[in-house]
Amino acid sequence: MPQMTDEMPSSQRPRAPHHAPPAVCLVGFMGAGKTTVGQALAARLGWRFVDLDDLIVARDGRTIPQIFQQSGEVAFRGLERELLEEALRFPRAGGSVLSLGGGAFIDNTNQQLLRENEVAAVFLDAPAEELFRRCERPGVIRPLLSDRDRFYALYEQRRPKYLNAAHCIQTAGREIASIVDEIITRLSLDANSGASK
Ligand code: S3P
Repeated sequence: MPQMTDEMPSSQRPRAPHHAPPAVCLVGFMGAGKTTVGQALAARLGWRFVDLDDLIVARDGRTIPQIFQQSGEVAFRGLERELLEEALRFPRAGGSVLSLGGGAFIDNTNQQLLRENEVAAVFLDAPAEELFRRCERPGVIRPLLSDRDRFYALYEQRRPKYLNAAHCIQTAGREIASIVDEIITRLSLDANSGASK
């Protein structure tokens, strides 16, 4: 094993043995069901559910729309990166299901952070018209939810990035439990022991 030196680029430095608790990360566009599926998956596994947007709101003290409106999207993305780094650097005991807001996985550095921490990313996909329908339901206010054409265009623009995830799961017309089952099977997670096999 080579010795680590400060001069070595980080990509060549030997990695510390990975003892972090297991984690799965759900990514996808607005309306993908990351929170709903994430909560159900965490309940099945006996893991903690962590929503990155909730961490941002807890840290900043403002709602997501207020952050966008008062500080702008760039400031929001900065907070998103910071809180993702913290969540990965200081994982709590037991497994975690981490749900990322729709724009977080678009960022290459965020993708890199997940890879470095060996957190498998699962892309929850559905046709744009289905995603738009889901977002029209009253509930969460989304600053980037605009008219249908802009929504579709943003989805098409982002989709290639989501496809970098290790797993892509189609969610249209499916029960939450069936999506959860597919994630557990694909990732060989053990729904009984609270850890991956
Ligand atoms: C965003 C999606 C939102 C939230 C923020 C930005 C995006 O999360 O993070 O409004 O860029 O698509 P959801 O995907 O949970 O709606």
